[in-house]
Amino acid sequence: MDRRRFLKSSITAAGTALLANRYLSATTSLLPEPSAHFPDNFIWGMATASYQVEGAWNEDGKGESIWDRFSHTQGKIKGAATGDVACDQYHLYPQDIAILKRLNQKSYRFSISWARIQPTGTGAPNQKGLDHYSRLVDALLEAGIRPFCTLYHWDLPQGLEDRGGWPNRDLAGYFADYSRILAKNLGDRITVWAPFNMPWTFTYLGYGTGTFPPCKSDYKQFLKAAHTVNLAQGECFRAIKAASSKATVGSAYGMAPAYPKTSSEVDHEATARYHAMNNVYFLETAIHGRYPKAFVGEIPYEAMGFKPGDEKIMQVPLDWIGFHYYTRRIVSDASGSSRPGNGGSFGTEIELDATTGRDPYTQFHVEMPTEGPLTDAGLEIYPRGIYDLVMQITREYNHPIIEITESGCSYLDAPYEKENGRVPDTRRIDFFRAELTELSRAIKDGANVRAFHAWSLLDNFEWADGYSQRYGLTYVDFRDQKRTVKDSGLWYGQVAATNKLDA
Ligand code: FCB
Repeated sequence: MDRRRFLKSSITAAGTALLANRYLSATTSLLPEPSAHFPDNFIWGMATASYQVEGAWNEDGKGESIWDRFSHTQGKIKGAATGDVACDQYHLYPQDIAILKRLNQKSYRFSISWARIQPTGTGAPNQKGLDHYSRLVDALLEAGIRPFCTLYHWDLPQGLEDRGGWPNRDLAGYFADYSRILAKNLGDRITVWAPFNMPWTFTYLGYGTGTFPPCKSDYKQFLKAAHTVNLAQGECFRAIKAASSKATVGSAYGMAPAYPKTSSEVDHEATARYHAMNNVYFLETAIHGRYPKAFVGEIPYEAMGFKPGDEKIMQVPLDWIGFHYYTRRIVSDASGSSRPGNGGSFGTEIELDATTGRDPYTQFHVEMPTEGPLTDAGLEIYPRGIYDLVMQITREYNHPIIEITESGCSYLDAPYEKENGRVPDTRRIDFFRAELTELSRAIKDGANVRAFHAWSLLDNFEWADGYSQRYGLTYVDFRDQKRTVKDSGLWYGQVAATNKLDA
């Protein structure tokens, strides 16, 4: 797996279970328990993101986003793909909501494109953009589906990047203004809000490694960007609560259970740093108003641009905790003298130090294990991971309400003529069956998980991979936008109807 692929893969994950060698017993969890079932009021849903599905990139007054700029730059996206049209959900949303309804879904997690609401990121709202999301929300409610709104799924207005992007702490205030506009206009109908999708990912890949837009690679810029996002999360929480009394605000973090490579103390400590940096860097700040112990030595407050009083701005009592699960990580200490292997990602490291190549702050080494079967995107299938992760967050954060905001797998199955055009994606069904068995076990063991969102309702624009990966439970033919619900979608629809994995 090349470095870019690895980094994209690490987007879909990040974390620790701190259970030494637990992963060795993982294979047993591949066997489904036929009896697995979910509580009566469990919320089944599906997720998407604005840039990945909407298209209509310059319609109705929408401004340019950093993903528009990136995808319009030669050589950035596989197959020179762009999100200009994507799934055209901007126009076809009634069809998509009809699919959700047909599949008995109770929640749709979508994101709003900031540049549709404020084309350059600040100033008066664009009424046409607001009207679009207002119609979408009405149509969802009409179909009996809970609108779950993510305010930011990576598509920053380019105008704000031109002002310095997330390392500029003014963005926390602009984000609060944007949040206020949304809550005022949609807060009578939307009750479930998540400020940021995978904040570690877009700050680190955007400003730390340069893999994603705006393509900056400076570790200190990453630290600054992450700090602004922590402030923005707090400001957003308060702005939404002030404008809408019905609002609940949670999160959509990317997390992965991480396991120490060996039973050595240093690997355990490195794994804890990974968990702090990649899983709970934006959660610990919200819940406790402090940064977690992600660093070897002192927290680099100065490099972050931390000011006295920031701890109070960051701290907000999230109503529930949302996170994604895709796969696991194996972590080892990287503070020793020899640099481990090639081709991996060294935690939050970028090549700051030309002699050692090591990030002086976190000093851990991360591996993507390949012991289990791999999806077509190269991620290892590890069902047990969701159990470990959910139980860990349950323990560490005093039994919170949890929503799984994303989980899924890429397989390239396509409509099969000999079976009347069905999409027989049995590997995806197996993936979800095994994973949901583990999730139901976590609920049985006391975790307060109330919702699960499959990624994704539709095959869509998969970031730097363009259209070369298909995560949808619905197949999209990008030549004519025809949607075909895959066998996994039909299966998941049954699960939603019965709360059982196999009726
Ligand atoms: C997650 C992203 C989502 C999608 C899936 C496959 O990291 O939140 O947009 O790309 O991975």
